[in-house]
Amino acid sequence: MNLIERPRRLRRTPTIRALVRETRLTPDDLVYPLFVCEGEGIRREVGSMPGAFNLSIDELVKEVNAARGVGVRSAILFGVPDHKDAAGTQAYAEDGITQRAIRALKREVKDTLIIADNCLCEYTDHGHCGVIEAGDVLNDPTLDLLARTAVAQAEAGADIIAPSNMMDGFVSAIREALDESGFEQIPILSYAVKYASGFYGPFREAAQSAPQFGDRRSYQMDPANAREAMREAELDYQQGADMLMVKPALPYLDIIRAVRERFDLPIAAYQVSGEYAMIKAAAKLGWIDEERVALESLTSIKRAGADIILTYYAPSLANLLA
Ligand code: PBG
Repeated sequence: MNLIERPRRLRRTPTIRALVRETRLTPDDLVYPLFVCEGEGIRREVGSMPGAFNLSIDELVKEVNAARGVGVRSAILFGVPDHKDAAGTQAYAEDGITQRAIRALKREVKDTLIIADNCLCEYTDHGHCGVIEAGDVLNDPTLDLLARTAVAQAEAGADIIAPSNMMDGFVSAIREALDESGFEQIPILSYAVKYASGFYGPFREAAQSAPQFGDRRSYQMDPANAREAMREAELDYQQGADMLMVKPALPYLDIIRAVRERFDLPIAAYQVSGEYAMIKAAAKLGWIDEERVALESLTSIKRAGADIILTYYAPSLANLLA
C-alpha cells in the first residue's frame, strides 16, 4: 500500500483554507500609535514613516474618529511638545500637549480607549528617558516624575497607562501613585520587555526624541538576551502590571512566545517604527507587496502569542480586514 500523508487536501480552495485557519486578526486586536504636536491644522508626514504624521489636536481628533470608523477602538498617544527641558516638565504638566490631547479625545471621540505612553524622552531636551546626572540616567528620581506623569494622564482621562521607559520599579511606582490618587481602576500596560533597538530610528524622527549623547543601552535591554526578558516580565508582573508588552515585535517572536507561555496576562507586541518603515520602503521600490507583507508580519506576531498588537498599520489593516 502506498500511503502518502496529504496535508494539501486542506489547502485546495480559499474556503477550505479559511475553515482550517488557526490565526485571525481582527480590528479589536489593534492599537493605533499617534504623535500629537502643538498648533492647529497640522498634519506633517514623518519622512521615514510614510502614512504616519505629527498631528495637532484638531487633526488628531479627526484621525482617531476615522480609525474608529473602520473599527480601530484603541489608540496610544505620544506627545511632541514645542518646549523641552532637562526634567521633561511637559510630560506631567496639567496643560502638557498629551494631557490636552487626551481631554480633547475623551470629549470628542466615542468608545475609543486612549492609552497614554508614559515616558520622558519626548519631553527632555537631552532626549533620554529620565533625569541625568554626570552623564548617567538616574533611576529613582526618574520614578517620581513617571508617577506624576501617570497621575496627570489619568486626570486628563487616559483609560490605560503604558510606561515605556525601563527604569527599575516603574510599575510599582506608577501603580502606587495611581491608587493614591483614586485611579485604582486604571490598568497598566507595561512595556515590560523593551530592547535597545535600532528599529526605533524612525520613531525618534517622528517624536524628535533621539538621545543627544550616548544611547539607551543602560536601561533598555540587550537584544541578545532572552532569559533576562523573563526576569523583566516577572518583575513587572509582581509589581502589578495588568498587561505585558514585548517590543519590537517581528525580530523578537521567540520572546513573545516565551512570555506568552510563562504568563497568563494579556500580552501585547509593538510592531515598531523601523518594522513599518522597512515594509514601506521595500514596497516603494516595488520589491515586495506591501499589503501582503504587512498582513503576514502582523499575523506572525499574533501567531507567536500576542493578543494585542500596536501598529502604525492599524487603520489600513482594519480596512483590509473589513
Ligand atoms: C519611548 C518610546 C519609544 C518607542 C515607543 N516608546 C522610543 C525609544 O525608546 O527610543 C519606539 C516606538 C517605535 O519605534 O515605533 N521611550
